[in-house]
Amino acid sequence: MEMLIQGKIKLSGEVEISSSKNAVLPIIAATILTDEKVVLHKVPHIKDVNTICQIVGKLGKEIQEEDHQLIFTGIIQNLTPPYELVRQMRASFLLMGPLLSRYGKVRLSLPGGCAIGNRPIDLHLKGFAAMGADIKFSGGDVIAKANKLIGNHVYLDYPSVGATENIIMAAALAEGTTWIENAALEPEIVDLANFINKMGGKISGAGTNVIKIQGVDNLSGTEYTPIPDRIEAGTYLIAVAATAGEAVINNVIPEHLKSITAKLEESGAVIEEDKRALKIKREGKIKPVYIKTLPYPGFPTDMQAQIMAYLSFAAGTSIISESVFENRFMHVQELLRMGADIKTEGKSAIIRGVKELTGARVKASDLRAGAALIIAGLSAQGKTIVTENEHIERGYEDIDKKLNQMGANIYLN
Ligand code: EPZ
Repeated sequence: MEMLIQGKIKLSGEVEISSSKNAVLPIIAATILTDEKVVLHKVPHIKDVNTICQIVGKLGKEIQEEDHQLIFTGIIQNLTPPYELVRQMRASFLLMGPLLSRYGKVRLSLPGGCAIGNRPIDLHLKGFAAMGADIKFSGGDVIAKANKLIGNHVYLDYPSVGATENIIMAAALAEGTTWIENAALEPEIVDLANFINKMGGKISGAGTNVIKIQGVDNLSGTEYTPIPDRIEAGTYLIAVAATAGEAVINNVIPEHLKSITAKLEESGAVIEEDKRALKIKREGKIKPVYIKTLPYPGFPTDMQAQIMAYLSFAAGTSIISESVFENRFMHVQELLRMGADIKTEGKSAIIRGVKELTGARVKASDLRAGAALIIAGLSAQGKTIVTENEHIERGYEDIDKKLNQMGANIYLN
């Protein structure tokens, strides 16, 4: 599929942010921790949610969808998530913790790398092994077994989001208490902990770098509404600033976006904060800024491509260093095709602002790079065609409709 974008528009009006993809995915994995009914509200219609629901369905869960509500019932009958679905999405690896914790056995194909890096899982496995799991590799799969997981201390060499989430889910039903040290602090981890606690879990410290999980005998069904998507919200903030527009972003938690709004204000945008909304306007020149991506609460790596597109026509030179992933500059080549002046040196990119970008045919390599190319296309002179926009649909609900409601002229073909 291709997305055709008319350039030189100013975004205005309002947009409603959907629930967070990166909160919903681990929460759907965690529905495996109970046989009772779980109802999730305001679940976004995005491809990754569809994929993980297909996998959980193949394991035995019945899933009813009513508009943006998902109802999970039924029991798990199969402990080997299907390869052809797992390989579509790295987050499938989040099924390992709950399956191991409840059933003591799981076979899962090793997640491949992807466009942004080789994406190891050693820290996930370190956590499971610390809790007594026997880990084997066979034919591209990892096979984990444990009669009963026993709580333990796990130190994460790196505050990995996925490893923190997987270990929380494994520890929730383990015997005894688990401590995760140097845990990731992301809001999506707090949301997962809140969800499991609502099921009767005993998790404390989520959102800090030491998380304590007291194992319980079982977890019950519940209802839950995940947090808004801070990366989707950040993407729209940057799109409005990039087009020198003025708009309101509704359904946000402002504190989750602090690093993004701080950088946008540094670049000259004006942002007003309400309790669940942000209003942004940019009228003058874009001032260049220095950015280093870091684990939360630092500037998110998932916003790096989008802010690079915005800075590519700033009045000066910006520097971005990508400290989280080893290869997350695939969007640079595509921005160069639109007339940007960017030089990458290892993990840093030097962005010399040009007067304006020119529309071109460009390719989305991952969902955030795709979002960056949409932002570039909205601001560029002329028309831009973004190909392979299936990547974008993985994590942005109705992005063309939402932008067209704000004055954009985008259509798919
Ligand atoms: C989550 O991925 C997000 N995905 C990513 O969002 C996000 O970019 C990333 O966190 C960082 O914030 C979901 O939540 C579904 P990590 P995850 O484990 O869990 C190293 C998007 O665009 N590492 O924190 O895979 C790894 O190499 C996606 O929505 C190990 O060394 O991220 C990387 O350099 C892209 N060993 C760093 O940690 C491990 O066992 C960050 O990875 C695990 C990770």
